Amino acid sequence: MSTLSGRRILLVIGGGIAAFKALDLIRRMRERGASVHVVLTEAAQHFVTPLSAAALSGTKVFTDLFSLTDEAEMGHIELSRAADLIVVVPATADLLAKMAHGLADDLASTLLLATDKRILVAPAMNLRMWLHPATQRNLAALRADGTLFCGPVDGDMACGEYGPGRMSEPLEIVAAIEAALAGATVIPLPHSAPKGPGALVGKKVVVTCGPTHEPIDPVRYIANRSSGRQGQAIAQAAAAAGAEVVLISGPVNLPDPPHIETLHVETAQEMLQAVESALPADIFIAAAAVADWRVATASEHKIKKGGDGVPTLALVENPDILATIAGRTEGRPSLVIGFAAETENVVENAEKKLARKGCDLVVANDVRPESGIMGGDSNAVTLVGRAGHETWHETWPRASKGEVGHRLIAHLVALLKEKTA
Ligand code: C5P
Repeated sequence: MSTLSGRRILLVIGGGIAAFKALDLIRRMRERGASVHVVLTEAAQHFVTPLSAAALSGTKVFTDLFSLTDEAEMGHIELSRAADLIVVVPATADLLAKMAHGLADDLASTLLLATDKRILVAPAMNLRMWLHPATQRNLAALRADGTLFCGPVDGDMACGEYGPGRMSEPLEIVAAIEAALAGATVIPLPHSAPKGPGALVGKKVVVTCGPTHEPIDPVRYIANRSSGRQGQAIAQAAAAAGAEVVLISGPVNLPDPPHIETLHVETAQEMLQAVESALPADIFIAAAAVADWRVATASEHKIKKGGDGVPTLALVENPDILATIAGRTEGRPSLVIGFAAETENVVENAEKKLARKGCDLVVANDVRPESGIMGGDSNAVTLVGRAGHETWHETWPRASKGEVGHRLIAHLVALLKEKTA
C-alpha cells in the first residue's frame, strides 16, 4: 500500500509551462488513496484552469487570498495546517524566491509561509534562471530551511535549450512525496536536485571533456565519438557546488556551459598544455576521450589520392594527460579522477587503469555501441577506487549525464574531505 493512502496533500500549482504535469500528478496521488487540495497561483491559471484541477481532485480549488467564502469555509491557515505535506509543482523561480524571502502576497505564498508542515518542491524553469546566482542563493536558503527538492533534471526544455531546470516527471514526484511522508530528509531519487551550493566553495576543479582531433593533414584528422556531454555536466555540477571551474574542451558540438571558464583545444598535446596552465587545482577530472595516438608528422598539404597508392600513416603515442598529472610529485591535485570507456570486463579493466595511471578513482562506463552511452544523454557508470591495498567498486543505476555529474561531485566532496582531513 502506498504511504499516500489516507494522507492529505496540499498541492500548490505554480505558473510555468510544466503546470500541465501537475494535473497528472493529482490523478496519480488520488489513485494511491490521497486526498488532494489544490491551490493555483494567478500565473498558474494561464496554464491550467481551476475547473480541470477541481475535476481531477474532486474538491474545491483555491485561488484567492481574499475570498470571503473560502475564508468562511476553510481559512488559509487551516488549509495549510490540515495537510500532511505541501507540494509545489511546478516550483517556479518566482515562487522559490518568495518562499526563500518569506513573502506572502497571494494565497499560495501565504499558505507556504503559514504552514507548519513540510514542503516538497519540484522546480521547473529555464536553465539560465536555474543557474542564476539569485536562484542558487534562494535554493541554498530553502535547503537550509529544510525544504525538500525533487529535481529538476537535465533535459530539453520548452524554450529550446538543454540543461538542468526541467521538472521531474509526475511518477518521480509521487516517489518523492512517498519518501517525504515516510520521513525522508533527502529525497532518494535518482534525479535528486544538485547538491547544495557551497560544498566546493574555495576549491578549484579542472575538467577535460570531448574528443581530441589529431591532424593527418590540413583537412583530415583522427577523432572519436565523444560528445563532451558528461564532462560538461561534471563541470556544471562542480560549479553548482561553488567551485571555481576550468573546463578544457576538445572540439564538441555543444555551446560552452554558462558561467564556466572554457578553454578550447584540438589535440592531446594542446590539452595537456592547457591542463598544466590551469593548475594548481584541488581536483582534476579527466573526462575527455583523448586520442591515444597522433600522426607522427601531419602533412603540411592535403594528401592527394592516386600517385604513390594508399598512404601509410605512421602513428606515435600521445602524452597521457591523466597519468602525467596523477604522477606529479609537486602540485598534484588532491584528487585525480580518470574515466575508462570499456566494451568488456569493465571492473577488471578499470582496476588495471587505476593502478597504471596512478589516479584516485576511475569512473568506468560501458561504451558498447548498443549501450547508446557514447554521445547519448544518459550514462551508467561503475566507480572503481582504492581503500588501502584493496580496490572497491560501486555501480550506479543508469541516469542522465547531469545526474551522474551531480552524484560524482557529491562523491568527490566526501573523498576530498577524507583525503585532506
Ligand atoms: O588509457 P585510456 O585512454 O583508456 O584511459 C582513459 C582515461 O585516461 C580518461 O580519463 C582519459 O581522459 C585519460 N587519458 C588521458 N590522456 C591520454 C589518454 C587517456 O588523459 N592520452
